Amino acid sequence: MSEALIKYFATKLIAWHGKDGRQGLPWQSIRDPYAVWVSEIMLQQTQVATVLERYPRFMKRFPTVRKLATAPLDDVLAEWAGLGYYTRARNLHACAKQVMEEFGGKFPNDPVLLEQLKGIGRSTAGAIAAFAFHERAPILDANVKRILARLFGIDGAIQEKAVNDELWLLAKTLLPKKAADMPVYTQALMDFGATWCTSRKPICLSGERKCPFEKECQANLSDQVLLLPRKVIKAKSPEFNCDMLLLRHGDSVLLQRRPDQAIWGGLWSLPESTWRPIEKNSKPSSNNSVDLTMKELFQLVLPDEKIFSASKSAYSIERGLEIKHVFTHRRLWMQIWHVTSVSTVKFTSDNLKWVPLRQLGQYGLPQPIKLLLQGLNLARGDDLRN
Ligand code: ADE
Repeated sequence: MSEALIKYFATKLIAWHGKDGRQGLPWQSIRDPYAVWVSEIMLQQTQVATVLERYPRFMKRFPTVRKLATAPLDDVLAEWAGLGYYTRARNLHACAKQVMEEFGGKFPNDPVLLEQLKGIGRSTAGAIAAFAFHERAPILDANVKRILARLFGIDGAIQEKAVNDELWLLAKTLLPKKAADMPVYTQALMDFGATWCTSRKPICLSGERKCPFEKECQANLSDQVLLLPRKVIKAKSPEFNCDMLLLRHGDSVLLQRRPDQAIWGGLWSLPESTWRPIEKNSKPSSNNSVDLTMKELFQLVLPDEKIFSASKSAYSIERGLEIKHVFTHRRLWMQIWHVTSVSTVKFTSDNLKWVPLRQLGQYGLPQPIKLLLQGLNLARGDDLRN
């Protein structure tokens, strides 16, 4: 392992950032731990361009950890709508409560304590400690793992514990000596991984020869840049289909609150059937007849409603779009059924609600459902946009 590279890595990386890193992002110059934490959680699985738009809005709505902790979860989920990975929003809310209750409203500066908070992993704890408190705490997200695996020629699978431990040790060894350099160093590491030492088009393979580490990088020297970090082959994610009920009565649509533990947990969505696994090569849609599908859907969602014994003229049923949505670990085909009811449908469950179309914007909805309702012009455009 190159001693010189270890010694000068932080200095060279900070110099790189001054010239070619991302500058002027709104979360870069903040030290308020609450603001840093929100930005780090939002940036985790969201494009910087989206965060640039949504972060100021979130901070305006929930300017302090107290405001976030005391807000109803539904308000937080509604504000998060469209950003995906809703566990992050639920964890943000739970973490804000924890900070109020266990730390008197003040985020701890010790990364070990930060890591005990809901939704904060080891790397995020390091980032918050570095940005907000100038702690000499390392980060090790997927981008940083890639940089280190290439520079130091670490060729074990990064999911393996021993390899991961080695990378953490290396990340710690490389930290700048001066605590005051921690914010710029941490940001530089993130930016270098996101813009130059990228997974598929690293700058060293562009022919530009401007990477500051090209002479020391083990992967570059041995022509293995695209082979590192070593990837473990993933199986294709499984596919499912389900039926969804778009039940309308007058000016309202029936929404169902999803269980907290489920995908899109806690969001309001259209009532749906159970998910059926799709066998390989089979057609990704339900073969059921309309009557059978409706019967099953209604029995599941509104067991007390005798839709099929009621006069057929009380309802109109129409097959709508089939929407595909890709999650991290599965793919789902949703068959939408438009049902318009002339009479009111009653129910006892707290998880069902008739929502007037003009109020849809106040609910956290899964993105494809939100788009569907927008696309169908079920609500005035500005209701769903905010
Ligand atoms: N991803 C996670 N944290 C980030 C940050 N501070 N800047 C850019 N991308 C990030």
